[in-house]
Amino acid sequence: MARHTPVMSVMVAAARKAARGLQRDFGEVENLQVSVKGPANFVSAADKKAEKTLFEELNKARPGYGFLMEEGGVVEGADKSHRWIIDPLDGTTNFLHSIPQFAISIGLEREGQIVAGVIYNPITDELYTAEKGGGAYLNDRRIRVAARRELNQSIVACGVPDLGRPGHERFLGELSHVMKQVAGVRRMGAASLDLAYVAAGRFDAYWEANLAPWDMAAGIIMVREAGGYIADLKGGEDMLGTGGILAGNEILMKQLAATIKVSHTAA
Ligand code: IPD
Ligand code: CA
Ligand code: CA
Repeated sequence: MARHTPVMSVMVAAARKAARGLQRDFGEVENLQVSVKGPANFVSAADKKAEKTLFEELNKARPGYGFLMEEGGVVEGADKSHRWIIDPLDGTTNFLHSIPQFAISIGLEREGQIVAGVIYNPITDELYTAEKGGGAYLNDRRIRVAARRELNQSIVACGVPDLGRPGHERFLGELSHVMKQVAGVRRMGAASLDLAYVAAGRFDAYWEANLAPWDMAAGIIMVREAGGYIADLKGGEDMLGTGGILAGNEILMKQLAATIKVSHTAA
């Protein structure tokens, strides 16, 4: 059983409360799908509403902690050593298209280190939690990264840059190298869940460039507490600063890092 500390209980309660709104709105999106304009404005309102709920709940429970949120940006707190890093709706494009692969992601930073994370998919009711030194859990079950040692037996997830975003050519170079070495590649569309799936041993490894801190914060501690390894795309530790991330068990993460590096030098 996952024994939640008081701060983890606060994070889980906030995520579940915001999830109730997203569940309702996801149902509504299916109805709006037929209109020509589609549900874009509705989804953006759902996103902001979820963030407001998270902000209010976390602020009430831990007054003074700072915030870094996708929609609201930085909110300085009186307590300079704690900061919430929040994506209220990770996987917006999926949500917009009625694809049930999205999540609320909450990371807690203490003195610049991520110490707790919650990733919650309200549709599948999968709740991922991790605290520094306490392991990672899916609902109440302890999770571990997969033990595979060979890339050619591995399923590797990635992110594909969207229309209008940078890095298309670079990604194609990475993919052309990676796909020749792995059993299969996946692009699910919610970075936080990609990392949670690595933690749960569903994906063997994962890489993506140009992410924001709120896409990764909770996922980083999830993978580490599941026994996995994380690096930026240069093999360093500046994931939040560079936006690049590699994840997997120690062996696969390093093999994938080497493949990505070769793809960059070959470009
Ligand atoms: C996006 C998702 C996606 C990733 C993008 C992110 P959003 O977040 O995590 O998987 O590839 O780079 O921006 O916009 O849905 O919160
Ligand atoms: Ca996101
Ligand atoms: Ca988002």
